[in-house]
Amino acid sequence: MSLSRRTILLSGLAAGAAGAVVAGGALPASAAPAPSRTRALSYPFTLGVASGDPDHEGFVLWTRLAPQPLAEDGLGGMPDRTVPVFWELAADERFRHVVRRGVVDAHAASAHSVHVELAGLLPGREYFYRFRVQRHLSPVGRTRTAPAPWSLPATLAMAFASCSQYEHGYFTAYRQLAETEPEIVLHLGDYQYEYARDTYTAPGGNLRDHEGPETRTLANYRQRHAQYKTDPDLQAAHAVAPWAVVFDDLLAQQVFFAQRDRDSGPLTVTSMDAWDGYLASRDRITRGWLAAGVRNPVVLTGDVHAHWASDLKLDYADPTSRTVGSELVCSSITSGGDGADSATGSHPWLAWNPHPRFHNNLRGYVRTTITREQLTADFAVLPYVSSPGAPARTRARFVIEDRVPGLHLTRDEPPAATRAAGPDADAGQRTVESETRRP
Ligand SMILES: [Fe+2]
Repeated sequence: MSLSRRTILLSGLAAGAAGAVVAGGALPASAAPAPSRTRALSYPFTLGVASGDPDHEGFVLWTRLAPQPLAEDGLGGMPDRTVPVFWELAADERFRHVVRRGVVDAHAASAHSVHVELAGLLPGREYFYRFRVQRHLSPVGRTRTAPAPWSLPATLAMAFASCSQYEHGYFTAYRQLAETEPEIVLHLGDYQYEYARDTYTAPGGNLRDHEGPETRTLANYRQRHAQYKTDPDLQAAHAVAPWAVVFDDLLAQQVFFAQRDRDSGPLTVTSMDAWDGYLASRDRITRGWLAAGVRNPVVLTGDVHAHWASDLKLDYADPTSRTVGSELVCSSITSGGDGADSATGSHPWLAWNPHPRFHNNLRGYVRTTITREQLTADFAVLPYVSSPGAPARTRARFVIEDRVPGLHLTRDEPPAATRAAGPDADAGQRTVESETRRP
């Protein structure tokens, strides 16, 4: 696969800086707080640090000062004043070779969260970063720039995930994903759920409660984000970036792309909430790939709450229609609860839908390895999320060869006791259905 053709398009990175960053040097005297106004803060880095939105010369560094992260007002237990935050970026973990440093103001109006946007760094490099407030030093974060747009890396490890419902289980899949050390993580939906407690219930009941009301305000959001960060398995993981990225061969989004007909008979019954509800738009994208000569169209999908893998067809109504690409759908981190394993191909819809090749209703994520010759997709699953610390394993592996549209199953590890797949697991998507007769 031609990585040189892949331009990273940033979907979440605005041009403007979120905060005034003073690059290089020490804190300017004018910004230094007068001693009389300085009050000692309790340890403020309870939410850790994060980085995301990489391009070939930079990324965003994030932290938020919150000595009491679950404070109901969403302000994290901080005083109502601006606090200077020092930051450092280094080429090494021990900060012997600091390449940038500066100070950014953390404002009460932003709940003392800061975004440091960096540019002018070297492509495809690992960097380390940390923050300091008063005498408090943050944990060290590790991040990296994207490869240069004109370069051709031998391999790229890219993972994607979606749907972490705090009430439904532990965030073990994030931890397992981080331990595989992907170079980039795409988050494809439901990074956080807005529901009030017990509004969205997992099969078998919820495991723990959402704090606070339904998320309607930024303060609600911040409180809930802080609560998610208390997950024991997430605390054990490295930071996971909440942004999505689109490559020009890879289309990352959060709605099922291939046709899924629920009806075994002559009707075509599909979800109007998926691309099946937007046939003309899907057709335009599909034909656009062919017209533009896109070499390896692969759609990456989240927010479906189950693993799926499908061949993409030029015309789903015609069984002889050519395969033009592939769709890889990741399961949820927790949404839907433990779920269950099932024999490959046992989902009932697969009997009359020839192009979906794989379905699995355990929780997990997808990890891909992209080389010049192929894309390898490992569908990782966890046996449970109802208690912390579950192991992860590769349930199935598909390979997509360069310039050869379609999926090849190269590894399949079904459960020892064969069982049929349960009912549709897509609890997160509305299933407004329409019935249309096949022509
Ligand atoms: Fe979801």
